[in-house]
Amino acid sequence: MSNLKWWQTAVFYQIYPRSFADGNGDGIGDFKGITEKLNYIAALGVDALWLSPHFPSPNWDCGYDISDYCNVAPEYGTMEDFKVFLDESHKRNIRVILDLVLNHTSDEHSWFVESRSSRDNPKADWYVWADTPPNNWQSCFDGEAWTYVPERNQYYYHYFMKQQPDLNWHNPEVKKAMWDAARFWLDLGVDGFRLDALGTIFEDLNLTPHTVPMTLAELRRFSDLAKTPEELELKDKYWHDMFKNQWGQLGVHDLMKELRAILDEYEGDRMLVGEDDNIDYMGSGNDELHLVFNFPLMRTEKITPDHVRENQTERLKQLDALSAKKGWPCNTLGNHDCSRIYTRYGNKLYHAELARLHAALVLTMKGTAFLYNGEEIGMTDHMLTDISQVKDTMGSWYYHAIVTDMGVHPDEAMARTAEMTRDKNRTPMQWTSHPNAGFSPMEVSTWLPVNPNYKNGINVRDQEQNPSSLLHYYKHLLRVRTSSSALKEGEYIPLHTEQKDYFAFVRQADKQSVLVILNFSNNHLELNFSTTKEVGGSNLKILFSSAERRIEEISSTLKLNPFEVFIAEVVHSK
Ligand code: GLC
Repeated sequence: MSNLKWWQTAVFYQIYPRSFADGNGDGIGDFKGITEKLNYIAALGVDALWLSPHFPSPNWDCGYDISDYCNVAPEYGTMEDFKVFLDESHKRNIRVILDLVLNHTSDEHSWFVESRSSRDNPKADWYVWADTPPNNWQSCFDGEAWTYVPERNQYYYHYFMKQQPDLNWHNPEVKKAMWDAARFWLDLGVDGFRLDALGTIFEDLNLTPHTVPMTLAELRRFSDLAKTPEELELKDKYWHDMFKNQWGQLGVHDLMKELRAILDEYEGDRMLVGEDDNIDYMGSGNDELHLVFNFPLMRTEKITPDHVRENQTERLKQLDALSAKKGWPCNTLGNHDCSRIYTRYGNKLYHAELARLHAALVLTMKGTAFLYNGEEIGMTDHMLTDISQVKDTMGSWYYHAIVTDMGVHPDEAMARTAEMTRDKNRTPMQWTSHPNAGFSPMEVSTWLPVNPNYKNGINVRDQEQNPSSLLHYYKHLLRVRTSSSALKEGEYIPLHTEQKDYFAFVRQADKQSVLVILNFSNNHLELNFSTTKEVGGSNLKILFSSAERRIEEISSTLKLNPFEVFIAEVVHSK
């Protein structure tokens, strides 16, 4: 029996509620829709859901600007609909974690409405106020970080949009109110939280200005145009220097400890995963966050065997060094904030092959895995062509900034905006080949346009009917993972570490040892493992191969097809 907790062996599936399933036909996803799709999710074979925010919100940041933490956005349904969804998920053994946004609220939240009304109201000190802008800090979404409020004749601070004022976490009342909100959902039975943007909760107490000789819009533009190695390096340095005083500050650890203690009061192993890659936020391994994402894995132009090996060596070493020795990895390649895996890590010739390799990578590496809705059918980025379609305010702000202030031609500005906006990876889930991809009735205009490639087989229904589809491939891999103790729990042992074409490793648990080989190249490979300690002299029992091998057991010389995914149990001869 494994000693691991459910969230360590789980595969999570992120649902972006606005785009997942439209149950009432108004062009926007909702709980009725999600609940209707729970059988689909169960059949896919994932263990848990992470829901992006479903709370009431004016949607300046697509729900990450929350105006009531203990409620459901009317367009997503009622509290009753939420409870039905949660209950139906649990009935199918699917756990549910919610998004908890601590850094800021919406400017329409009653806390802020009160706070901004005067300098002496009971919530006057719930946000970060200053008489004059104390420095040149920028908001990472829309320029100046300090916004004026005439009622107080003061400025408030916001790391994100001006509609997302930062809470003052030095105020114990703020903490209490937010912990009450967390308890509200825990009492209802949710299994944990994904913590949004936790690094930005505190700012440098000295309010040290940044030293970058540009505004945010200028820096974005500079980044768009940077080409030479020097420019690219300078761009990274500028981004770091512009914001380094506004995140990663002291204080977050104590908060995480408090929140962890609250979760630990509840039965059922509730869990926290942080939107940060800093392993320090796991504390000693059992007193802060349960997981942080392995974002460095994603931070590359191209996934290569070398990149993954380096990432794993570094990451697993850091996790092992936690004093309680309980650090557990958490891998993902995509979410609602970045270009879709299929587009981002594909290449024109081998998109489909690479998508399969990347799925296999996330599902066989040591650690908890997170998938993003739609990746299982190979959804791609959808480039918007008209500024009126853009819903991600960060995108429309940038468009107007460069057209109006910098004189960039609207066509070029639109092309840049389509690239940088997160709308491209948040379009409605493609369920069928019917108009609107079966997401909404055909006469309805969906909140973001549907990617027209739903007509070309990129939809659930067509792929369900096609045994060789990407969807079936995901299901198959998920079944293999679920039924393998080595893939769920085993240690990671890299093999043939000098090889550029393929990534080979063993996952070794007490009762099972599994060899995984991912051929990232377009070459036929002939691999010899006879002198490899972990594998040599054993038989291999195939658990999965994208080449549809029929042979049950083969010797230690292996012929692999281009881009093959090969997973086999290592059967030691008696
Ligand atoms: C996180 C979310 C992102 C949001 C931001 C502000 O990074 O993932 O979508 O815009 O926080 O809340």
